[in-house]
Amino acid sequence: MSIPYRIYLDEEQIPKKYYNIRADMPEQHDPLLNPTTDQPATLEDLKPVFCDELAKQELDTTTRYFDIPKPVQEFYKMFRPSPLIRAYNLEKALGTPAKIYYKFEGNNTSGSHKLNSAAAQVHYAKEQGLTSLTTETGAGQWGTALSMACAFYNLDLTVYMVRGSAEQKPYRKSVIETFGADIIPSPSNTTAVGRSILKEHPDTGGSLGCAISEAVETAVNTPNCRYVLGSVLNQVLLHQSIIGLESKAAMDSIDEYPDVVIGCAGGGSNLGGLIAPYMQDKLKERSDVRIVAVEPVSCPSLTRGRYVYDFCDTGKITPLARMYTLGSQFMPSADHAGGLRYHGMSPILSKLYHDGYMEAVSVQQTKVFEAAVLFAKHETILPAPESAHAIRTAIDEAMECKKTGEEKTILFGLTGTGYFDMQAYSSYLAGKMTDYIPSDSDLEAGFNQLPNVESIKSSSSTSVHSMT
Ligand SMILES: Cc1ncc(COP(=O)(O)O)c(C=O)c1O
Repeated sequence: MSIPYRIYLDEEQIPKKYYNIRADMPEQHDPLLNPTTDQPATLEDLKPVFCDELAKQELDTTTRYFDIPKPVQEFYKMFRPSPLIRAYNLEKALGTPAKIYYKFEGNNTSGSHKLNSAAAQVHYAKEQGLTSLTTETGAGQWGTALSMACAFYNLDLTVYMVRGSAEQKPYRKSVIETFGADIIPSPSNTTAVGRSILKEHPDTGGSLGCAISEAVETAVNTPNCRYVLGSVLNQVLLHQSIIGLESKAAMDSIDEYPDVVIGCAGGGSNLGGLIAPYMQDKLKERSDVRIVAVEPVSCPSLTRGRYVYDFCDTGKITPLARMYTLGSQFMPSADHAGGLRYHGMSPILSKLYHDGYMEAVSVQQTKVFEAAVLFAKHETILPAPESAHAIRTAIDEAMECKKTGEEKTILFGLTGTGYFDMQAYSSYLAGKMTDYIPSDSDLEAGFNQLPNVESIKSSSSTSVHSMT
């Protein structure tokens, strides 16, 4: 069978249901905890922060498939199905016997997979009659995606953007504003938590954890407003399952099945989505596909973090999740892959990794950019630095095949494009990019501040307006 470069599904083949991986997990991850009570967070606990439907999805461990609402299906038609691409030219350049495929999610103005969840989340907010939303953004793709969806559904949006990324990418601000949202570099003096972080670290470049705290604080203090998140949460992995479902349908259509599936992992949403149907096969013992998460050495939550309960944000106002974490107070270095600078990891992926269903590797950013440039030259797509982490590992796997002569089938997620990351590309090309590997004592500083779940009950000072 001759396999085309680009394998497109028909519009009619866009999935009509999301797949909830938790319905097939032999063991569930530990529940989110309400930090004021130390008890599993209930629907009522989550509703003041999240839209009702999303809060329900967050806690649902049994519904295997969720219908994608008709308006969201229509929205998807503006940018889906996304192509599955055979990297013939990269294979040739590497001289590998491996077959490399990638699912390209960058073909929309947000430049990434983030629009898949934004479209769904804003739909549910609109259905509930909310008038505004808040969020955080790291690399800027999520903020852009959400501003696009809010413009479409006519909802107000405030985006807290990690200050370091905002400075590196001024045009992200312009794009987000073009779609009508407000954007505030974080930490900022618009929130109590931002002011207190700035008091302690006046020169900080911020982090996703800080920006989340600010967005949650603003949401709970604004009438008819909720907070939405672009990663980590179960609901987001659920929406992103569309990536994996489409990939599997496209691979099935050419009689292919991957030996290894590779994705970059920030909070885990693209990886959780890409692997969803393959993980289902693995959990049901229908396949022994390898699944590999790739993270930066500078923010190594899976490879060097601890599997414990932690806050999802720096300001300690969110529920606690049991996940691989570097500690909510860990301040990652100013690595260029802003979207991978999160201290924790999706509780679902953390559990699957902990139980041995997944592998994880960490890679240095200079090696990541080397892979990005090679990929761009041969495949003509300029990848986002986040996505290039997956490219790095896919190339490493393919080069291993060159050594062993194995004709493995490799699938990786090309989550987005890097047009706003030219400062990082310039720094790499000028030979100025360095690699930062945190020492054990750097990490220890983050671990030392992990919450003691028992003590949270008695310390009402950390408690949460978000949970009331
Ligand atoms: C292009 C791109 N890929 C990957 C990620 C990582 O996020 P996640 O792990 O949720 O997929 C981001 C996050 O901002 C991103 O912008």
